[in-house]
Amino acid sequence: MPDINELLAKSRVVPLVQADDPTIAVEISRALAAGGLSVVEVVFRTDRALECLQAVADQVPEMIAGAGTVLTAVQAEAALANGAKFIVSPGLDDAVVAVAKKHGVPIYPGIMTPSELQHAYNLGLDTVKFFPASIAGGIPALKALSSVFRSMRFMPTGGVSPENLADFLAIPAVLACGGSWLTPKDAIDAGNYEVVTALAAAAVSIAKKARP
Ligand code: 3PG
Repeated sequence: MPDINELLAKSRVVPLVQADDPTIAVEISRALAAGGLSVVEVVFRTDRALECLQAVADQVPEMIAGAGTVLTAVQAEAALANGAKFIVSPGLDDAVVAVAKKHGVPIYPGIMTPSELQHAYNLGLDTVKFFPASIAGGIPALKALSSVFRSMRFMPTGGVSPENLADFLAIPAVLACGGSWLTPKDAIDAGNYEVVTALAAAAVSIAKKARP
């Protein structure tokens, strides 16, 4: 099993895949891979998200697929049974963390305050999602948190864009940035997957310059 933190650090960008049709989730993931990305977060925000995750895990071997928007321990178990290689949550929930730990799979729970971060630290986590990054104080907040929690790594998500991606990645404590800007709904609905590939390629280029 590859080290997922290393893969995230190498990818630098973690796109969100939201679909209610497994075929579309696969198309999106292939388009992202064609743009040079190697990790996706399939979000549990549709009725068929689990099928989408499984389809990506089975049919897009060039992608490491994780599950996002995992709210409950039951969802975490289901995600891991359907091919998720990591779990992302919008918030920090002990039961969800416990499932991930039981299976030895990385979990990136969302935090936005020092208390939540300290709780994550004391649960033995070394990497968290910083969410929603732009509303939680953005880059200044992240610098302040990382100066205190010196061993923690962060995945800022929520408001990350091509305009601020390089600034987030310039912070050494940032492992990778997550976001939905790479998978715009209008382009996907229109079947314009080349837009997704172009956005992924642009993000890869920004990320490589920001963090060679
Ligand atoms: C998430 O679930 O991580 C956020 O909804 C992503 O935020 P974004 O749409 O601003 O990238």
